[in-house]
Amino acid sequence: MSFLARATPASSSKISLRRSFAATVRDVPLRPTTRPPTAIVMMNMGGPSTIPEVHGFLSRLFHDHDLIPLPMQRILAPIIASRRTPSIEEQYTAIGGGSPILRWTRIQGEGMCQLLDELNPETAPHKSYVAFRYAEPLTETCLEEMKADGVTRAVAFSQYPQYSCSTTGSSLNELHKVTRSKGGWGGSGEVQWSVLDRWPTQEGLVDAVATNVQAALNKYPEDKRSDVVLLFSAHSLPIEIVNRGDPYTAEVAATVHAVMKKLNFSNPWRLTWQSQVGPKAWQGPQTVDAIGGYAKLGKKDICLVPIAFTSDHIETLFELDIEVAHQAKNLGVNLSRAESLNDSPIFVRALADLVSGHLKDFDAGKIGPTSTQLSLRCPKCTNPKCGRTKEWLAAGGVGPTVSA
Ligand code: FES
Repeated sequence: MSFLARATPASSSKISLRRSFAATVRDVPLRPTTRPPTAIVMMNMGGPSTIPEVHGFLSRLFHDHDLIPLPMQRILAPIIASRRTPSIEEQYTAIGGGSPILRWTRIQGEGMCQLLDELNPETAPHKSYVAFRYAEPLTETCLEEMKADGVTRAVAFSQYPQYSCSTTGSSLNELHKVTRSKGGWGGSGEVQWSVLDRWPTQEGLVDAVATNVQAALNKYPEDKRSDVVLLFSAHSLPIEIVNRGDPYTAEVAATVHAVMKKLNFSNPWRLTWQSQVGPKAWQGPQTVDAIGGYAKLGKKDICLVPIAFTSDHIETLFELDIEVAHQAKNLGVNLSRAESLNDSPIFVRALADLVSGHLKDFDAGKIGPTSTQLSLRCPKCTNPKCGRTKEWLAAGGVGPTVSA
């Protein structure tokens, strides 16, 4: 599929892109076709593509101290993973037998690289790689593919637009650990790394979400449309992580506000939180509780908007579309949902624009390997891995790390 051919006016026209490409390409010396690709490493939590992968996925997830800090983690994690496997297998069965996140990530990555080859001929060819935290392809697999391709330049590109130490931070800690482990590759100068760690208000992202929200609103009768409550739903965090100073909550709110601004604040809205598990206190209100509250207040037309996921996975397809939808129906709520970004051409163009600007600014010396914001640890961070990873990334993924 050509994302150039599908580019929309909002993501600049095909003609102007080709013109600027033609203008640029004359100035760029031809490179040998054997040049290794510039790697764009798409990092995300991932999901089991098949039912037999569910247990391994859960086991890795519950072993991740950056995501779920448990006492006696090595003992408790396998017990919890085994206990939860049957019910989570049922959920993946209900959405078709596995998570679609790998398929969507590959489609997005390939479309992005098609555009990048034209936008940035000086760093072409570009190739997307996938590094999932809890499912294949894991970071180890990704690095093996990069090594086989002879990669020497890579962008670690978080697919979480809003940064949390428990998501993007965990993926970056894993990248540092695996590249620097005994026999590891890619962490001692073989690769020049830079990081795209957050992009909560990137113009194309905001445009893509707003377009999907408008499409959902257009399905309501015109006289009811402006009264529909937009309920932006993001994965919640344990409140202890929020109170540690994690930036996620504020960055999700920034995305929501930017989308509403793009929509000219056409509808009333709230930001709510989903996927809470366990007995601890989490960031609220929960999405399902908010729907119950609005039902009592007589607000029966509600449109859900996933705001922290860049494609469909279990939290949209099962939790929102089956569980929450069922409860909304029982409450007499007319619930709809904006499409996830998936293969949105506006979104794919946004990814390409983001990486294109990053590569150009990096090569021009305007930015370093990491954002200024990534250099700052949470005020109550006690995780020594965070300090080591940030120092390693700030040096472009080179050299030994010494501080805690
Ligand atoms: Fe946020 Fe360590 S927990 S930097």
